[in-house]
Amino acid sequence: MMPPRPIPLCVAPMMDWTDRNCRYFHRQISRHTLLYTEMLTTGAVLHGDRDRLLGYEAAEHPVALQLGGSEPEALAAAARIGEEWGYDEINLNCGCPSDRVQSGRFGACLMAEPDLVARLVGAMREAVSIPVTVKSRIAIDELEEWPTLVDFVRKVSAAGCTRFIVHARKAWLQGLSPKENRDVPPLRYELVYRLKSEFPHLDISINGGIKTLDATAEHLKHVDGVMIGRAVYENPYLLAEADRRFFGATEAPPERHAVVEAMLPYIERRMKQGAPLGSITRHMLGLFQGLPGARAWRRHLSENAHKAGAGPEVVVAALAKVRRAPEADVAA
Ligand SMILES: Cc1cc2nc3c(=O)[nH]c(=O)nc-3n(C[C@H](O)[C@H](O)[C@H](O)COP(=O)(O)O)c2cc1C
Repeated sequence: MMPPRPIPLCVAPMMDWTDRNCRYFHRQISRHTLLYTEMLTTGAVLHGDRDRLLGYEAAEHPVALQLGGSEPEALAAAARIGEEWGYDEINLNCGCPSDRVQSGRFGACLMAEPDLVARLVGAMREAVSIPVTVKSRIAIDELEEWPTLVDFVRKVSAAGCTRFIVHARKAWLQGLSPKENRDVPPLRYELVYRLKSEFPHLDISINGGIKTLDATAEHLKHVDGVMIGRAVYENPYLLAEADRRFFGATEAPPERHAVVEAMLPYIERRMKQGAPLGSITRHMLGLFQGLPGARAWRRHLSENAHKAGAGPEVVVAALAKVRRAPEADVAA
């Protein structure tokens, strides 16, 4: 089988943020950037409400399902379900440091157990024919960064994983909160670059603190792909030039207003399925970041989307406020 082509840009899995509404919105801005789900535990996938947890619209493709777990059979079964639901990739979370995740012995603590991760990846690969990938840190706790990373990637790639997304900082499982673990440990991009040069046949993506497409282009001189999380969530229109810059597209991206208009039929559809307006618009608040009207947009949605009976007309009214906004109304 031919290895899948490297993916130059993807949006990070983010719990509570990258749900289906968020992904559909991001997809209106970039057709090609790979999108990730929030992490779903094997328990949720195997025993939970699958329509609610796994449901999405075909327009979201390409979309990768991120799983959290540490048992080969459960991960294999959850991966199979993900493939049946049409996801394009199954990703194993080996980077998330939260307590809840540690107690289940998965997430970042798996960085200390590369042999187990190799078994997990092997079991998932046997269960599905779509790519199985791993998102990791560079190390955890007292473990030395480079030897830990190399040993991890060597063992896990021997089990057939060919795509790694590396958040280029350690996670400290005790003493730092999950949020601090995304900011406090220093970024060591050079270790991820070195990983690519030692394992040139692997598809290596870099993650952590990357905020612009210019920075993405710089990283792509050293690695195959970039994963961006918070910067895209806060400033989603950042994705607009991605298709032309990194995926060979020739057409111009949609204007912000067109993105909003493309969301209106979706909002109607999802509200008929029971989704509250605010569960969709909350992901759209940053769309006009840095432009006149950004504040009026954000404020109108925040103040009105949760009111009883609110529907797509709230979004239309917010857009009208952007169009009328004075130049000075830029604060985001
Ligand atoms: C709100 C939030 C939730 C996150 N949830 C997950 C998750 O479910 N799985 C995961 O692997 N990483 C998760 N992360 C980490 C991100 O995927 C990413 O690795 C991290 O934010 C660093 O990238 P950034 O600096 O571009 O944001 C989360 C990050 C944030 C901010």
